Amino acid sequence: MSVVSLSRQDEIGIITVDNPPVNALSHAVREGIVSCLAEANADDAIRAIVLQCAGRTFIAGADITEFGKPMKEPYLPDVVNELADSPKLTFAAIHGTALGGGFEIAMGCHYRIALRSAKVGLPEVKLGLLPGAGGTQRLPRLIGVPDALRLIVSGQPISARHAGELGAIDRTVADNLLEGAIEFAHDLVATQAPPRKVSARVIEAEEFDDDFYDEFRRSIARKARGYFAPERIIRAVRAAAELPFGEGLERERDLFLECMASTESKALRYQFFAERQAARIPDVPHDIPVRPVERVAVIGAGTMGGGIAMNFASLGIPVQIVDVDEAAIGKGLAIVRKNYERGVKKGRMTADQLEQVMGLFEPVTDYAQLSDADLVIEAVFENMALKKEIFGKLDAACKPGAILATNTSTLDVDEIAAATGRPQDVIGLHFFSPANIMRLLEIVRGKETSGEVLQTCIRLAKKIRKVGVVSGVCYGFIGNRMLAGYHREAWMMILEGAKVEQVDKALFDFGMPMGPLAVSDLAGIDVGARIREERRAAGNWPDDERFGLIPDRLYRLGRYGQKTGAGFYRYEEGSRTPAPDPEVAALIAEEAGRLGIEQRDISDEEIVSRCVYPLINEGARILEEGIALRASDIDVVWVNGYGFPPYRGGPMFYADTVGVARVYETICRYRDTLDRGHGYWEPAPLLEKLARKGGQFTG
Ligand code: 3HC
Ligand code: NAI
Repeated sequence: MSVVSLSRQDEIGIITVDNPPVNALSHAVREGIVSCLAEANADDAIRAIVLQCAGRTFIAGADITEFGKPMKEPYLPDVVNELADSPKLTFAAIHGTALGGGFEIAMGCHYRIALRSAKVGLPEVKLGLLPGAGGTQRLPRLIGVPDALRLIVSGQPISARHAGELGAIDRTVADNLLEGAIEFAHDLVATQAPPRKVSARVIEAEEFDDDFYDEFRRSIARKARGYFAPERIIRAVRAAAELPFGEGLERERDLFLECMASTESKALRYQFFAERQAARIPDVPHDIPVRPVERVAVIGAGTMGGGIAMNFASLGIPVQIVDVDEAAIGKGLAIVRKNYERGVKKGRMTADQLEQVMGLFEPVTDYAQLSDADLVIEAVFENMALKKEIFGKLDAACKPGAILATNTSTLDVDEIAAATGRPQDVIGLHFFSPANIMRLLEIVRGKETSGEVLQTCIRLAKKIRKVGVVSGVCYGFIGNRMLAGYHREAWMMILEGAKVEQVDKALFDFGMPMGPLAVSDLAGIDVGARIREERRAAGNWPDDERFGLIPDRLYRLGRYGQKTGAGFYRYEEGSRTPAPDPEVAALIAEEAGRLGIEQRDISDEEIVSRCVYPLINEGARILEEGIALRASDIDVVWVNGYGFPPYRGGPMFYADTVGVARVYETICRYRDTLDRGHGYWEPAPLLEKLARKGGQFTG
């Protein structure tokens, strides 16, 4: 069956795109639109043409799977131009989301009508691109330069109502979209309205001078740091204001192709598919029946428990909250309320909605009350004996088929599962802090976790708007396990002569949101110190005095980071801005002297490779051991949980862009030249294998 068809209702031709799941503009769709348009234009009985889509959404954009391959005619900009040049009136009838090329198609039409529930937007920037089918030229003509710039650079869709107010949508209807579109078309045909081409509009360019664009650049500088596409978008939109339409389109095309060829775009497109791929588990059918999750319980109303519970309540799912006593629950719920109040202040919810959502929390101190819960997530102190005791109690109290999850960050999920008589129903759900905000959810599959439970949790992740990645059981799972080498090298290099602020700046410039030492100050030097104490006590820490030495000394000095006004840095009263502290520099120099470490200049390049390459090496081990199913899963973890720059695709994709052989050689050099290199820098066998055969982790 053809993905595009033409039908007729009275004098109106109706072109219907039907290309599930999201009506992407594949070659067949582009060809279909052009041929149906030609047929409609040739049909004397047709006076106007409505373009609509079947299924759940209007066209969601160009077909991203075709990117990077040779493009086949008709090209998308030409399809849009043909709709604009049609001698008969063209109408776009929008439901769901008209995104990217989909919105560009709509802007090519002479008129746009949308369901009130619809959204429109140009999200190309999220793929490292700019709208390449006239979007940068038509949108400013429709809604003005400032709003167009904001919309295209943010990539965020807006509601049809908002788009209507701005001037991008002509009419909205509550329902019966096609009827509404046909009526709209009849109305205009009756008045003999001529085709209305967006390209004919002229922008008054004078008010948009260099200062205007520079001011805009400043306003996005923080978010756009390190990105390539936003600046190209600014240039394309400026061309819309300053050049005739045809020349503007050419400029857009050149800038689009520049973006398409960038590593940033390759990385972001890779991430788009990686996130979706992460939901597929080779030995678990994608369509396996999942268990309903309509009632949730959270054990532990602390930092994590409260945030975890919010994810469910925000979706209208009732959540029981358990803690040691009512006072502890009250304390936890007060923080939850404060978080929601922030949402009210920002206009994200009303005061009534806040009360409604708070009404979904049920304080519970008796486990017998958990008998109806479909899913229980435990988030008590990180202590194996305590967790086992709680899972024993849950086993006794919960109904058969309830999913029992732990939010542990380090403990053995299999050992916890063994405390129950139903290990197949036990799983790790490792949220990241703040759990109501961070997008990543590591889904830890125990050796007995059933496929059904796993698939239920994968679906659940999407439902609560997280990106779920499945990890096997090991210390630290995927993300935190890799983090160890990253911090180790930062600590080693400050002993070897790099300045604290230099280490952080080099990694910030690489694209991390903050350097590792500033992050420690934010998270609390005491938190890390306690983890190291426990690991040393358990014999789970290398016998190397240097490893963790500086943060441990800071800890003993009571320098816990931002909360005490001093850590790796100094903080003025009430400020979060780190200032280099000569006392810390002196302390480091003293320790280096004591240990006989000769301090030297360390280049920024060395800082980056010594911190980032251990991620790659550990990532390779995680792959070999089957802890992660694929390299792209590791990248999804690092981009969404640790702020690894999305435009670098994640550590494994980054390794491929640097060249696996080069990473391997550098790691071997560090192994052979650095103190204890033969312990810390042994290359993973998989890294070596790929380097030798010229292979890649991804792609
Ligand atoms: N091309 C190809 N496949 C696409 C696609 C696209 N533009 N958009 C979505 N898909 C696929 C997904 O990969 C997924 O496939 P899978 O089921 O095999 O994993 C399937 O469609 C469903 O997607 P989601 O799981 O994301 O479904 P949701 O309902 O959660 O979201 C959506 C729907 C909001 C449309 C979301 O998919 C989305 O944001 N898509 C991308 C939109 C986009 O970026 N458009 C711009 C493209 S670039 C462009 O148009 C360039 C032009 O200017 C020249
Ligand atoms: P927290 O100390 O803030 O909260 C723990 C809560 O558990 C407290 O409210 C405490 O009263 C309650 N609790 C203790 N014993 C209990 C019992 N027997 N029954 C019911 N409640 C009990 O701790 P946090 O930070 O929320 O951590 C919880 C879990 O989440 C730990 O396993 C931790 O490793 C994990 N985690 C923590 C992250 C973080 O950044 N804080 C990130 C990811 C996971």
